Amino acid sequence: MALAVRFHDQRQCEAGASLRDEALAGFAAKTKQISPKFFYDRRGSELFEQICKQPEYYPTRTEELILSRAANDIAEIAGQDANLVELGSGASRKVRLLLEAMHPASYLGIDISEDFLLSSTRRLAADYPWLEVHASCADFSLPMTLPDGFDGAHPLAFFPGSSIGNFSPEQALAVLRNLHELLPAQGGLLVGVDLVKDKDLLEAAYNDEAGVTAAFNLNLLQRIRQELDSDIDPDRFIHHAFFNEAESRIEMHLISPQAQDVTIEGRRFHFERGESLHTENSYKYTPASFRDLAGSAGFKAVAMWTDPRELFSVHYLQRD
Ligand code: AVJ
Repeated sequence: MALAVRFHDQRQCEAGASLRDEALAGFAAKTKQISPKFFYDRRGSELFEQICKQPEYYPTRTEELILSRAANDIAEIAGQDANLVELGSGASRKVRLLLEAMHPASYLGIDISEDFLLSSTRRLAADYPWLEVHASCADFSLPMTLPDGFDGAHPLAFFPGSSIGNFSPEQALAVLRNLHELLPAQGGLLVGVDLVKDKDLLEAAYNDEAGVTAAFNLNLLQRIRQELDSDIDPDRFIHHAFFNEAESRIEMHLISPQAQDVTIEGRRFHFERGESLHTENSYKYTPASFRDLAGSAGFKAVAMWTDPRELFSVHYLQRD
């Protein structure tokens, strides 16, 4: 029973660049950078779960509060025959709120991390014996299809956690267009979006007292050291996160407090003292700016919910 997950491997090995390729290209760039999608190895995924429990990190618990209040409305809009497609982990309590309100026949979890995907979907299969559980390993920044065997006639795609915020507005538009392609006409898209707010509140959320976000950021270097041939030392970098108001995004960096050379796969890279490796952007929207973006991708705004402090928003969009 617990193993009754239908697994679909939809990784596009040719199209999606590897940690090796992206690290080599990113470290050679004028501003050193690497994609935040590489945060999520097993350790990184665990650290992210810990981030979500930190008192300063409001997005997770706020989105959960919004969903617990809106779940019945969401189920009603989605309708009787709706099936649920989740973009991202499936480990969270959020999707459970929807499963319990909607009682769909099938669930499909899509995630880039196979380990994490399998453990979270197996847990769902064990906890909801009435649910047909599918798992698809795929990168949702690339075009996707619903796997064979999954009834995608009336899907509600759930994209929680403001994961869309990791993409620049141009990339987010491309992701929304991919989802528009994935969904049939009238298909629903429920997306969690973090909102622009007071700078101190925003910055605290990415600089928790316990240092979990710092450990999460630094784990990227540990990954490079473990998975590639590299001497990079996480202890020689410092976590730095701040709100860039002009771009409406939190930026995360790893700063080299002293000049140093690092080698990756036989190539040497120099860091000046104070130079940064840019590891993540987390864009913040207003309800209207996100609706506009979704509109450009061909989605109609059906409903939106927020919390009393307007920290976070959940948008119900429909494919036209
Ligand atoms: C998973 C991308 C939504 O941007 O808040 C949390 C990732 N990075 N703390 C976010 C993250 C640092 C998170 N997202």
